Amino acid sequence: MGELMRRYWIPVRPTAQLVKEEVMAVRILGEDLVLFRLADGQMGLVGDRCPHRMTELRYGIPDTGGLRCCYHGWMFNPAGQCIETPLESANDPFKDRIRIKGYPVQEMGGLVWAYMGAGTDALAAAVGPCHENTGDPTHSVYLHGNLFEYVLQKQGKLEERAADGQMHTLYARMKTGNGIESLYVNPTRYGMEKGINYSKELGADRDHVSRHATVIFPFYTQTGGPGMVRQEFQIRVPVDDTNTYHINYGCYMGPEEVPVTVQESIPYYDVPLFDDDGKPLLDFVLAQDAHAWISQGPIMDRTQEHLGRTDMPIVFMRRQFEEQMRIVEDGGDPMNVFRDPATMPSLIHGGHWDEREEEGKAAVTGKGSDLSSFRGAYHKGYAIDDADRYGPAMPQVIDLMRRIDEAQEEAARA
Ligand code: FES
Ligand SMILES: [Fe+2]
Repeated sequence: MGELMRRYWIPVRPTAQLVKEEVMAVRILGEDLVLFRLADGQMGLVGDRCPHRMTELRYGIPDTGGLRCCYHGWMFNPAGQCIETPLESANDPFKDRIRIKGYPVQEMGGLVWAYMGAGTDALAAAVGPCHENTGDPTHSVYLHGNLFEYVLQKQGKLEERAADGQMHTLYARMKTGNGIESLYVNPTRYGMEKGINYSKELGADRDHVSRHATVIFPFYTQTGGPGMVRQEFQIRVPVDDTNTYHINYGCYMGPEEVPVTVQESIPYYDVPLFDDDGKPLLDFVLAQDAHAWISQGPIMDRTQEHLGRTDMPIVFMRRQFEEQMRIVEDGGDPMNVFRDPATMPSLIHGGHWDEREEEGKAAVTGKGSDLSSFRGAYHKGYAIDDADRYGPAMPQVIDLMRRIDEAQEEAARA
Protein backbone atom coordinates (compact mmCIF):
# COMPACT_ATOMS: atom_id res chain seq x y z
CA MET A 1 0.00 0.00 0.00
CA GLY A 2 2.88 2.33 0.75
CA GLU A 3 4.32 1.73 -2.72
CA LEU A 4 0.95 2.57 -4.22
CA MET A 5 0.62 5.78 -2.18
CA ARG A 6 4.06 6.88 -3.34
CA ARG A 7 2.77 7.17 -6.88
CA TYR A 8 0.84 10.32 -5.95
CA TRP A 9 1.55 13.89 -4.95
CA ILE A 10 0.38 14.14 -1.36
CA PRO A 11 -0.89 17.25 0.45
CA VAL A 12 1.28 17.69 3.51
CA ARG A 13 0.25 20.95 5.24
CA PRO A 14 -1.68 24.14 4.47
CA THR A 15 0.58 26.77 2.91
CA ALA A 16 -0.66 29.38 5.41
CA GLN A 17 0.58 27.23 8.28
CA LEU A 18 4.02 26.85 6.74
CA VAL A 19 4.24 30.57 6.04
CA LYS A 20 3.54 31.22 9.71
CA GLU A 21 5.72 28.52 11.27
CA GLU A 22 8.44 28.29 8.59
CA VAL A 23 9.93 25.04 9.94
CA MET A 24 7.89 22.13 11.19
CA ALA A 25 8.12 18.42 11.84
CA VAL A 26 5.77 16.29 9.73
CA ARG A 27 5.21 12.57 9.52
CA ILE A 28 3.92 11.20 6.22
CA LEU A 29 3.86 7.61 4.91
CA GLY A 30 5.70 6.43 7.98
CA GLU A 31 8.59 8.85 7.55
CA ASP A 32 9.62 11.57 9.97
CA LEU A 33 10.50 14.67 8.00
CA VAL A 34 10.93 18.41 8.33
CA LEU A 35 9.05 20.83 6.13
CA PHE A 36 10.48 24.32 5.74
CA ARG A 37 10.06 27.52 3.81
CA LEU A 38 12.82 30.03 3.13
CA ALA A 39 12.46 33.81 2.93
CA ASP A 40 12.51 33.65 -0.90
CA GLY A 41 9.53 31.26 -0.90
CA GLN A 42 11.59 28.14 -1.66
CA MET A 43 10.24 25.12 0.20
CA GLY A 44 11.79 21.82 1.19
CA LEU A 45 10.81 18.52 2.75
CA VAL A 46 13.87 16.79 4.15
CA GLY A 47 14.91 14.10 6.62
CA ASP A 48 14.26 15.05 10.25
CA ARG A 49 17.82 14.70 11.58
CA CYS A 50 21.09 16.42 10.91
CA PRO A 51 23.62 13.71 10.00
CA HIS A 52 26.39 15.48 11.93
CA ARG A 53 25.39 14.46 15.46
CA MET A 54 21.71 13.72 14.83
CA THR A 55 20.07 16.87 16.19
CA GLU A 56 16.56 17.35 14.98
CA LEU A 57 16.19 19.75 12.08
CA ARG A 58 12.80 20.94 13.29
CA TYR A 59 14.87 23.38 15.37
CA GLY A 60 16.69 24.52 12.25
CA ILE A 61 17.16 28.07 11.01
CA PRO A 62 15.85 28.98 7.55
CA ASP A 63 18.76 30.62 5.72
CA THR A 64 19.69 31.61 2.18
CA GLY A 65 19.48 28.49 0.06
CA GLY A 66 18.66 26.02 2.78
CA LEU A 67 17.84 24.98 6.31
CA ARG A 68 20.64 25.33 8.83
CA CYS A 69 21.00 22.92 11.76
CA CYS A 70 20.70 24.76 15.08
CA TYR A 71 23.65 22.92 16.68
CA HIS A 72 26.76 23.58 14.54
CA GLY A 73 25.21 25.24 11.54
CA TRP A 74 25.40 22.59 8.86
CA MET A 75 23.10 23.64 6.05
CA PHE A 76 20.94 21.51 3.73
CA ASN A 77 19.28 22.56 0.51
CA PRO A 78 15.71 21.44 -0.38
CA ALA A 79 17.13 18.42 -2.21
CA GLY A 80 18.76 17.28 1.07
CA GLN A 81 22.33 18.01 -0.04
CA CYS A 82 24.63 19.46 2.61
CA ILE A 83 25.87 22.78 1.27
CA GLU A 84 27.79 24.15 4.25
CA THR A 85 29.68 22.84 7.25
CA PRO A 86 30.85 26.24 8.56
CA LEU A 87 33.01 25.10 11.47
CA GLU A 88 34.87 22.48 9.49
CA SER A 89 37.89 23.30 7.33
CA ALA A 90 36.85 25.56 4.46
CA ASN A 91 38.55 23.59 1.72
CA ASP A 92 37.48 20.15 2.86
CA PRO A 93 35.06 18.55 0.34
CA PHE A 94 33.53 16.77 3.37
CA LYS A 95 30.11 18.40 2.88
CA ASP A 96 29.74 16.99 -0.64
CA ARG A 97 29.46 13.49 0.76
CA ILE A 98 26.75 14.47 3.27
CA ARG A 99 23.16 14.05 2.22
CA ILE A 100 19.78 13.59 3.82
CA LYS A 101 16.45 12.76 2.25
CA GLY A 102 14.85 15.52 0.21
CA TYR A 103 11.48 15.24 -1.51
CA PRO A 104 10.10 17.62 -4.13
CA VAL A 105 7.38 19.94 -2.85
CA GLN A 106 5.01 22.30 -4.63
CA GLU A 107 2.33 24.72 -3.60
CA MET A 108 -1.12 24.47 -5.09
CA GLY A 109 -4.52 25.71 -3.97
CA GLY A 110 -3.32 26.73 -0.54
CA LEU A 111 -1.73 23.36 0.20
CA VAL A 112 1.87 22.18 0.13
CA TRP A 113 2.19 18.93 -1.79
CA ALA A 114 5.05 16.45 -1.70
CA TYR A 115 6.09 13.69 -4.04
CA MET A 116 7.63 10.84 -2.09
CA GLY A 117 7.93 8.42 -4.97
CA ALA A 118 11.71 8.43 -4.82
CA GLY A 119 11.86 6.91 -1.34
CA THR A 120 11.47 3.26 -0.58
CA ASP A 121 12.90 2.88 2.89
CA ALA A 122 9.59 3.22 4.68
CA LEU A 123 6.62 1.66 3.03
CA ALA A 124 4.04 1.96 5.73
CA ALA A 125 0.61 3.29 4.91
CA ALA A 126 -2.68 1.89 5.97
CA VAL A 127 -5.90 3.27 4.67
CA GLY A 128 -8.06 2.16 7.50
CA PRO A 129 -11.38 3.01 9.12
CA CYS A 130 -10.94 6.72 8.52
CA HIS A 131 -10.85 6.31 4.80
CA GLU A 132 -13.53 3.68 4.60
CA ASN A 133 -16.14 6.17 5.73
CA THR A 134 -16.07 7.35 2.16
CA GLY A 135 -17.75 4.14 1.03
CA ASP A 136 -20.47 4.42 3.63
CA PRO A 137 -23.46 6.36 2.26
CA THR A 138 -25.89 5.31 4.99
CA HIS A 139 -23.96 6.11 8.19
CA SER A 140 -25.53 9.57 8.15
CA VAL A 141 -28.88 8.26 9.36
CA TYR A 142 -27.67 7.40 12.84
CA LEU A 143 -24.33 9.15 13.21
CA HIS A 144 -25.52 12.56 11.99
CA GLY A 145 -29.21 11.98 12.73
CA ASN A 146 -30.12 10.02 15.82
CA LEU A 147 -26.82 10.60 17.63
CA PHE A 148 -26.97 14.31 16.85
CA GLU A 149 -30.48 14.51 18.28
CA TYR A 150 -29.51 12.53 21.37
CA VAL A 151 -26.46 14.71 22.04
CA LEU A 152 -28.36 17.98 21.63
CA GLN A 153 -31.12 16.66 23.83
CA LYS A 154 -28.65 15.76 26.57
CA GLN A 155 -27.04 19.18 26.32
CA GLY A 156 -30.51 20.72 26.61
CA LYS A 157 -29.86 22.46 23.30
CA LEU A 158 -32.19 20.63 20.94
CA GLU A 159 -34.80 23.41 21.08
CA GLU A 160 -32.30 26.15 20.54
CA ARG A 161 -30.18 24.48 17.84
CA ALA A 162 -33.03 22.84 15.95
CA ALA A 163 -35.75 25.38 16.64
CA ASP A 164 -37.06 25.09 13.08
CA GLY A 165 -38.35 21.62 13.84
CA GLN A 166 -37.49 20.03 10.51
CA MET A 167 -34.86 22.10 8.69
CA HIS A 168 -32.00 21.02 10.94
CA THR A 169 -29.65 18.56 9.28
CA LEU A 170 -30.33 15.88 11.88
CA TYR A 171 -33.94 15.53 10.67
CA ALA A 172 -32.91 15.44 7.03
CA ARG A 173 -30.32 12.77 7.85
CA MET A 174 -32.76 10.58 9.73
CA LYS A 175 -35.13 10.78 6.80
CA THR A 176 -32.50 9.36 4.45
CA GLY A 177 -32.95 6.06 6.27
CA ASN A 178 -36.51 5.65 4.99
CA GLY A 179 -37.25 3.46 1.99
CA ILE A 180 -33.75 2.22 1.18
CA GLU A 181 -34.21 -0.39 -1.50
CA SER A 182 -30.56 -1.04 -2.27
CA LEU A 183 -27.15 0.58 -2.58
CA TYR A 184 -25.18 0.80 -5.76
CA VAL A 185 -21.51 1.25 -6.53
CA ASN A 186 -19.75 1.64 -9.87
CA PRO A 187 -16.16 2.09 -10.90
CA THR A 188 -15.48 5.41 -12.62
CA ARG A 189 -12.48 6.53 -14.61
CA TYR A 190 -11.06 8.27 -11.54
CA GLY A 191 -12.38 6.21 -8.65
CA MET A 192 -15.89 5.19 -7.82
CA GLU A 193 -19.41 6.45 -7.48
CA LYS A 194 -22.01 5.15 -5.11
CA GLY A 195 -25.39 5.94 -3.75
CA ILE A 196 -28.77 4.75 -2.61
CA ASN A 197 -31.80 3.57 -4.56
CA TYR A 198 -34.99 4.64 -2.76
CA SER A 199 -38.38 3.06 -3.11
CA LYS A 200 -41.70 4.74 -2.38
CA GLU A 201 -43.22 1.38 -1.64
CA LEU A 202 -40.67 0.86 1.15
CA GLY A 203 -41.34 4.24 2.74
CA ALA A 204 -39.38 6.87 0.78
CA ASP A 205 -41.31 9.96 -0.30
CA ARG A 206 -40.79 8.87 -3.94
CA ASP A 207 -38.80 6.41 -6.02
CA HIS A 208 -35.45 7.99 -6.67
CA VAL A 209 -31.71 7.55 -6.76
CA SER A 210 -29.46 9.56 -4.47
CA ARG A 211 -25.87 9.76 -5.57
CA HIS A 212 -23.37 10.32 -2.78
CA ALA A 213 -19.99 11.96 -2.50
CA THR A 214 -17.71 11.24 -5.45
CA VAL A 215 -14.58 9.27 -4.64
CA ILE A 216 -11.37 10.08 -6.43
CA PHE A 217 -8.60 7.53 -6.06
CA PRO A 218 -6.61 7.16 -3.86
CA PHE A 219 -7.96 9.23 -0.95
CA TYR A 220 -10.21 12.09 -2.02
CA THR A 221 -13.91 12.41 -1.40
CA GLN A 222 -15.88 15.30 -2.80
CA THR A 223 -19.05 16.18 -0.97
CA GLY A 224 -21.47 18.73 -2.29
CA GLY A 225 -22.20 18.62 -5.99
CA PRO A 226 -20.69 20.86 -8.63
CA GLY A 227 -22.27 24.27 -8.48
CA MET A 228 -23.42 24.02 -4.89
CA VAL A 229 -22.70 26.82 -2.46
CA ARG A 230 -20.43 24.68 -0.38
CA GLN A 231 -18.25 21.90 -1.68
CA GLU A 232 -15.73 20.00 0.29
CA PHE A 233 -12.89 17.70 -0.49
CA GLN A 234 -12.11 15.30 2.30
CA ILE A 235 -8.50 14.29 1.90
CA ARG A 236 -7.19 11.44 4.02
CA VAL A 237 -3.43 11.50 4.05
CA PRO A 238 -1.75 8.37 5.46
CA VAL A 239 0.64 9.41 8.23
CA ASP A 240 1.63 5.85 9.09
CA ASP A 241 -0.02 2.48 9.72
CA THR A 242 -2.27 3.81 12.45
CA ASN A 243 -2.72 7.54 11.86
CA THR A 244 -4.35 9.67 9.21
CA TYR A 245 -4.03 13.40 8.59
CA HIS A 246 -7.56 14.41 7.64
CA ILE A 247 -7.94 17.57 5.59
CA ASN A 248 -11.34 19.12 4.99
CA TYR A 249 -10.79 21.39 2.02
CA GLY A 250 -13.78 23.69 1.82
CA CYS A 251 -14.81 25.70 -1.23
CA TYR A 252 -17.65 28.18 -1.29
CA MET A 253 -19.03 29.59 -4.48
CA GLY A 254 -21.87 31.76 -5.64
CA PRO A 255 -23.71 32.25 -8.92
CA GLU A 256 -22.22 34.76 -11.36
CA GLU A 257 -24.36 37.65 -10.21
CA VAL A 258 -23.17 37.37 -6.61
CA PRO A 259 -19.51 38.37 -6.33
CA VAL A 260 -17.40 36.39 -3.88
CA THR A 261 -14.79 37.90 -1.60
CA VAL A 262 -11.31 37.41 -2.99
CA GLN A 263 -9.02 35.92 -0.34
CA GLU A 264 -5.38 36.91 -0.22
CA SER A 265 -4.40 33.54 1.13
CA ILE A 266 -6.35 30.45 2.01
CA PRO A 267 -6.86 30.31 5.77
CA TYR A 268 -6.49 27.11 7.74
CA TYR A 269 -7.56 26.00 11.17
CA ASP A 270 -7.38 22.93 13.36
CA VAL A 271 -10.65 21.33 14.33
CA PRO A 272 -10.91 20.33 18.01
CA LEU A 273 -12.35 16.89 18.71
CA PHE A 274 -12.39 17.20 22.51
CA ASP A 275 -13.65 19.90 24.85
CA ASP A 276 -11.58 21.59 27.57
CA ASP A 277 -12.28 18.72 29.97
CA GLY A 278 -11.06 16.14 27.45
CA LYS A 279 -14.56 14.91 26.68
CA PRO A 280 -15.32 14.07 23.04
CA LEU A 281 -17.20 16.75 21.12
CA LEU A 282 -20.15 15.16 19.35
CA ASP A 283 -22.32 18.12 18.42
CA PHE A 284 -21.04 18.79 14.91
CA VAL A 285 -20.88 16.54 11.87
CA LEU A 286 -17.15 16.07 11.36
CA ALA A 287 -16.51 15.31 15.03
CA GLN A 288 -19.22 12.65 14.95
CA ASP A 289 -17.43 11.06 12.01
CA ALA A 290 -14.03 11.34 13.64
CA HIS A 291 -15.08 9.65 16.86
CA ALA A 292 -16.81 6.84 14.98
CA TRP A 293 -13.63 6.22 12.93
CA ILE A 294 -11.18 6.47 15.79
CA SER A 295 -13.23 4.14 17.95
CA GLN A 296 -12.92 1.41 15.31
CA GLY A 297 -9.36 1.05 16.53
CA PRO A 298 -5.90 1.72 15.10
CA ILE A 299 -5.91 -1.41 12.95
CA MET A 300 -9.28 -2.99 12.50
CA ASP A 301 -9.54 -6.77 12.66
CA ARG A 302 -11.80 -7.33 9.69
CA THR A 303 -12.48 -10.94 10.58
CA GLN A 304 -14.66 -9.59 13.40
CA GLU A 305 -16.91 -7.60 11.07
CA HIS A 306 -20.34 -8.60 9.85
CA LEU A 307 -20.86 -6.78 6.61
CA GLY A 308 -24.38 -6.17 5.34
CA ARG A 309 -25.93 -4.84 2.16
CA THR A 310 -25.10 -1.25 3.00
CA ASP A 311 -21.40 -2.14 3.13
CA MET A 312 -21.24 -2.98 -0.55
CA PRO A 313 -19.33 0.21 -1.46
CA ILE A 314 -16.80 -0.56 1.30
CA VAL A 315 -16.20 -4.00 -0.16
CA PHE A 316 -15.82 -2.42 -3.60
CA MET A 317 -13.33 0.09 -2.23
CA ARG A 318 -11.20 -2.56 -0.55
CA ARG A 319 -11.10 -4.49 -3.82
CA GLN A 320 -10.16 -1.38 -5.75
CA PHE A 321 -7.18 -0.83 -3.45
CA GLU A 322 -6.15 -4.48 -3.85
CA GLU A 323 -6.45 -4.24 -7.60
CA GLN A 324 -4.41 -1.01 -7.80
CA MET A 325 -1.72 -2.46 -5.52
CA ARG A 326 -1.53 -5.43 -7.86
CA ILE A 327 -1.00 -3.09 -10.82
CA VAL A 328 1.90 -1.40 -9.02
CA GLU A 329 3.34 -4.77 -8.05
CA ASP A 330 3.27 -5.80 -11.68
CA GLY A 331 5.18 -2.66 -12.63
CA GLY A 332 2.27 -0.66 -14.03
CA ASP A 333 0.87 2.78 -13.28
CA PRO A 334 -2.18 2.81 -11.02
CA MET A 335 -5.28 4.93 -11.50
CA ASN A 336 -4.84 8.71 -11.60
CA VAL A 337 -1.13 8.69 -12.32
CA PHE A 338 -0.59 11.13 -15.19
CA ARG A 339 2.95 11.34 -16.47
CA ASP A 340 2.03 13.81 -19.18
CA PRO A 341 0.35 16.97 -17.87
CA ALA A 342 -1.53 17.27 -21.18
CA THR A 343 -3.46 14.11 -20.40
CA MET A 344 -4.69 15.41 -17.05
CA PRO A 345 -8.40 16.12 -16.87
CA SER A 346 -9.40 19.55 -15.63
CA LEU A 347 -12.65 18.34 -14.14
CA ILE A 348 -12.54 15.09 -12.31
CA HIS A 349 -15.98 15.03 -10.81
CA GLY A 350 -18.72 14.15 -13.18
CA GLY A 351 -22.28 13.04 -13.60
CA HIS A 352 -25.26 14.40 -11.81
CA TRP A 353 -26.13 14.02 -8.19
CA ASP A 354 -29.57 13.62 -6.82
CA GLU A 355 -31.99 13.41 -9.74
CA ARG A 356 -33.94 16.27 -8.24
CA GLU A 357 -30.99 18.58 -8.64
CA GLU A 358 -30.63 17.65 -12.26
CA GLU A 359 -34.29 18.33 -12.92
CA GLY A 360 -34.52 21.60 -11.10
CA LYS A 361 -31.37 23.59 -10.69
CA ALA A 362 -28.46 24.23 -12.96
CA ALA A 363 -26.30 22.33 -10.51
CA VAL A 364 -23.96 20.75 -13.06
CA THR A 365 -23.04 24.00 -14.78
CA GLY A 366 -21.75 25.66 -11.65
CA LYS A 367 -24.26 28.45 -12.02
CA GLY A 368 -26.87 27.19 -9.63
CA SER A 369 -26.67 27.37 -5.91
CA ASP A 370 -28.44 25.05 -3.59
CA LEU A 371 -29.54 26.76 -0.42
CA SER A 372 -31.92 24.02 0.59
CA SER A 373 -29.53 22.11 2.86
CA PHE A 374 -28.01 23.33 6.10
CA ARG A 375 -24.70 23.77 4.32
CA GLY A 376 -26.14 26.46 2.10
CA ALA A 377 -27.96 28.10 4.97
CA TYR A 378 -25.21 29.10 7.34
CA HIS A 379 -26.69 32.60 7.40
CA LYS A 380 -29.71 31.10 9.12
CA GLY A 381 -27.60 29.88 12.01
CA TYR A 382 -26.54 26.44 10.77
CA ALA A 383 -22.81 27.07 10.53
CA ILE A 384 -22.62 25.76 14.09
CA ASP A 385 -23.52 22.24 12.93
CA ASP A 386 -20.21 21.37 11.34
CA ALA A 387 -16.49 21.99 11.67
CA ASP A 388 -16.95 25.15 9.61
CA ARG A 389 -17.98 26.82 12.84
CA TYR A 390 -14.29 27.09 13.74
CA GLY A 391 -13.31 28.58 10.37
CA PRO A 392 -11.71 32.04 10.34
CA ALA A 393 -13.48 32.84 7.05
CA MET A 394 -16.93 32.06 8.40
CA PRO A 395 -18.12 35.71 8.50
CA GLN A 396 -17.37 36.02 4.76
CA VAL A 397 -19.02 32.68 4.00
CA ILE A 398 -22.14 33.57 5.97
CA ASP A 399 -22.27 36.92 4.21
CA LEU A 400 -21.95 35.18 0.83
CA MET A 401 -24.80 32.81 1.62
CA ARG A 402 -26.98 35.68 2.75
CA ARG A 403 -26.32 37.59 -0.48
CA ILE A 404 -27.04 34.51 -2.62
CA ASP A 405 -30.30 34.03 -0.77
CA GLU A 406 -31.27 37.66 -1.29
CA ALA A 407 -30.36 37.54 -4.99
CA GLN A 408 -32.45 34.42 -5.45
CA GLU A 409 -35.42 35.94 -3.64
CA GLU A 410 -35.15 39.00 -5.79
CA ALA A 411 -34.97 36.90 -8.95
CA ALA A 412 -38.03 34.98 -7.82
CA ARG A 413 -39.95 38.21 -7.28
CA ALA A 414 -38.96 39.63 -10.66
S1 FES B 1 24.35 18.25 14.83
FE1 FES B 1 23.75 19.46 13.16
S2 FES B 1 25.46 20.69 12.77
FE2 FES B 1 26.07 19.45 14.36
FE1 LIG C 1 -20.21 11.39 8.10
